[in-house]
Amino acid sequence: MVASIYQSGLTNLPMGELQKLVHQVGQTPMQALHLSVAGKTHTVHLKLEGYNPTGSMKDRTGYSLIQHLEDRGLLSEGSTIIESTSGNLGVALAFQCKARGYRFIAVIDPKTTEENIAKMEALDASIEMVYEPDTSGGFLLSRLARVQELCSQHQNYTWTDQYSSSANPHIHYSCTGPEVYQQMDEQVDAVFVPVSTGGTLSGIGRFFREVSPATRIIGVDAHGSVIFGTPPAPRKLTGIGSSRRSHFISADLYDSHMLVHDEEAFAFCRELYRATDIHVGGSSGASLAACVRYLASHPEDTRVACVCADSGRNYASSIYNDAWLQQHNITLTAEHLGPLESIAKAN
Ligand SMILES: Cc1ncc(COP(=O)(O)O)c(C=O)c1O
Repeated sequence: MVASIYQSGLTNLPMGELQKLVHQVGQTPMQALHLSVAGKTHTVHLKLEGYNPTGSMKDRTGYSLIQHLEDRGLLSEGSTIIESTSGNLGVALAFQCKARGYRFIAVIDPKTTEENIAKMEALDASIEMVYEPDTSGGFLLSRLARVQELCSQHQNYTWTDQYSSSANPHIHYSCTGPEVYQQMDEQVDAVFVPVSTGGTLSGIGRFFREVSPATRIIGVDAHGSVIFGTPPAPRKLTGIGSSRRSHFISADLYDSHMLVHDEEAFAFCRELYRATDIHVGGSSGASLAACVRYLASHPEDTRVACVCADSGRNYASSIYNDAWLQQHNITLTAEHLGPLESIAKAN
């Protein structure tokens, strides 16, 4: 486990330190929790991806996308990388690019958290904001159209393409999945994985299908996202969800999916923080909400993992801010915690 850039301070790190951290993504800790659900106590293991260098699981993806291009000789000093991102991948790529001597342009949208924009800027990324939502009410298609436009105007731009590069699922197949499996002593009943591009679900799913086919792989998505074929609708959750289907997910790689409302995800983030001091982001709250609902109908499952894709630090101005919740007419109640009775750290 590495010292996160958060702890060291983004702007204070000398170049030598940044360069060292580039190759130190992953090996994040697992935190065991006792969750009481419908009269039974389960041990649930949180894979805390906020401990990656820039604070999210997307450090793995960013590393893999850039390494893949470098390995194929497609980058040289001073190359310009461009990517569409709702935030976390933008921070991860900004970090990788700064440390490796590339310029980086992040095409983002108004839902990108102010915390992530500040981090990208501190890592010298150029920010390109799209303001027009696409036909599904999300911003992905608008961001992608802007990436295409900029690439056609600048032949020297290289698009990392997190949406279809095999380097995205591959890093989760070769690293994230094996870490979860080993940290749980190779006994895993179910894994809950938040989904956007589907790289994480696809990579973890493929790994577990090979080594432990009985482990149930459950994709967690936001209500209003179209990834699993449900109709589009507005949503506040960021990181998770998409306005189009994933290139990476196929039915053989996962067992089921669960959709979570914004309020449920936010309520779980805040309850986890209140009860344990563990500070996670919205998609992690969604994974936990899905996990608790699932455990109520699967009391036999005792060894369960939830992928917590980022830390709560990204959401100080939103999920963890009462004024922001009020401004968006969001009232969180005990009902949003569903069948959860209590949460406590197991160690
Ligand atoms: C916080 C968060 N959770 C979940 C995801 C989904 O990961 P993937 O794109 O691999 O499906 C992302 C992706 O950006 C994310 O930032």
